[in-house]
Amino acid sequence: MSKNLGELAGKKGVNQTLFEELGIAARQTGTPMVERMEELADNFIFGKANVYGAATFYDFLKPENQGKKVYICNGSACITAGTQASLKEKLLKHYSESEIGEMCCLGRCHENSSFHINGNNYSGSAINSIVSLKKETKTAFDKYHVASYGTAVLTAPFPGIKSYYSILERALNTPADELLNELKVSGLRGRGGAGFPIAIKLEGCKKEANKQKFIVCNADEGDPGAYSDRYLLEQQPHSVLLGMMIAGYITGAETGVVYIRAEYPEAISITQETINELHKQTLLGKNILNSGFNFNFKVIGAQGAYICGEETALLSSIEGQRPEVRVRPPYPVQQGLFNKPTVVNNVETLACIPWVIKNGGQKFSSIGIGKSTGTKLISLDGYFKKPGIYEVDMGTPLPVVVNDLGGGFRAKVKAMHIGGPLGGLVPVEKINDLTVDFESFNKNGFLLGHASVVCIPENFPIIKYLEHLFAFTAHESCGKCFPCRLGSTRGAEMLRKAQNDNYKIDRTLFNDLIETLEIGSLCALGGGLPLPVKNALQYFDNELSDYFKT
Ligand SMILES: Cc1cc2nc3c(=O)[nH]c(=O)nc-3n(C[C@H](O)[C@H](O)[C@H](O)COP(=O)(O)O)c2cc1C
Ligand code: SF4
Repeated sequence: MSKNLGELAGKKGVNQTLFEELGIAARQTGTPMVERMEELADNFIFGKANVYGAATFYDFLKPENQGKKVYICNGSACITAGTQASLKEKLLKHYSESEIGEMCCLGRCHENSSFHINGNNYSGSAINSIVSLKKETKTAFDKYHVASYGTAVLTAPFPGIKSYYSILERALNTPADELLNELKVSGLRGRGGAGFPIAIKLEGCKKEANKQKFIVCNADEGDPGAYSDRYLLEQQPHSVLLGMMIAGYITGAETGVVYIRAEYPEAISITQETINELHKQTLLGKNILNSGFNFNFKVIGAQGAYICGEETALLSSIEGQRPEVRVRPPYPVQQGLFNKPTVVNNVETLACIPWVIKNGGQKFSSIGIGKSTGTKLISLDGYFKKPGIYEVDMGTPLPVVVNDLGGGFRAKVKAMHIGGPLGGLVPVEKINDLTVDFESFNKNGFLLGHASVVCIPENFPIIKYLEHLFAFTAHESCGKCFPCRLGSTRGAEMLRKAQNDNYKIDRTLFNDLIETLEIGSLCALGGGLPLPVKNALQYFDNELSDYFKT
């Protein structure tokens, strides 16, 4: 069934998708009206229930959020910073309770007090100017530290279009197999969390016979605490776009789709403006630089659903289907967007490609350690004295990031949640044991993931943080498999009751729950949640044991 829907969804091409039509309908009325959804179902030859099921899945399309005028960030960093209750109090002087919604997360983790109004994001002390912000149509860009420690692959200043796109000119004069080989030699692995080698995906897609193929940039950066993809899209958009173009040349794809989360309005507009500029410079379209290579981009703004960062849910989302995770095989490189061969990569992974092609795979692989080659961007939250985006060579000791780059903590911190909600909970006493690379984190029972860092201050109860993680998973679960759909809700309930009622958690039951989540979930949302929970049970038993039966 979903195979047929994938084909049908692609009938009008990527420039006219059901998903975008739903977004347009919602912009006019706050949520797509039933009559409009029925019309769209007929237009796309979809079942009405399918369209309704898709539209009501997303935070910014669902009827519950119709009429919301301002959204408060409820991401982990804003929660542990404790800024959002007073933010809400201030907003309640200007808006009714029903006009205030929630967004997760706005990527303003370095400043906190984050909120979204009139399509723009604000943070820090911006709430004090709420009267003027209500009328504001332009965004106020935020500032944060950006620095590199080691090789500046991703944070080097942009040298201008002419100079930068000489990399494309050279690439288009080189056989695709040679470029692919450079990427193989580079050892570049996915930066979205799983660390899968990009060359294998490109090779798989290249081998497929289909004439139509896609390069999809996963810019759904939903991990609360992460804003490194936002940095790249807003401040280094050319490296992402050029990376996609080179990936297109290698695989034979002529379309690049950049799927950007709705919570990053500035990234969406900057990426579109950059693409417009490339068109003006005749670096896009047909026969680019007289090479015979054709390439175009499509930017798609998402609608608020963490699970759309999972690559197969993302593809279903673009197709206008309910964004449920797909069973693999077939893999996206075989049957991806509209059932065509598709490479899905993270923003940061794609942004590394131009550097590899310019400097050679060998040079890239000489940076880093072991199988973790190259550099990694790290997002530091507002508990650091110098919060921001730092690029470090893989293998850099974690204390360098925490103390030398981040300037240490501004208040007493007991743990850092590294790598998003499914990453490990690193107690501060383990900082000295870790280096920034996939292997070091795995070996020590943690996960580098996308390398966001959310601090948990001394006075923030770990049980409350675990409840937040279970509640987050329950809200974001696509619902396809029951361990995640039910287990996340039951877990959140247990943790809530243990804090608020005369209730102690049965340890065996709880362990069964996390084991079922771990081994029975289809994707890493349900399957990954147990990692931080187990870390918490191991390192913070002194805090947690009171909530469990003896
Ligand atoms: C629940 C969930 C959320 C995810 N969110 C993202 C995301 O926001 N961005 C991303 O690049 N990858 C995300 N991923 C990983 C993607 O499924 C996929 O592995 C990645 O986009 C591949 O790109 P890479 O190889 O360049 O990392 C997520 C995975 C899961 C299970
Ligand atoms: S683990 Fe959760 S998000 Fe992943 S497929 Fe199952 S229900 Fe969906």
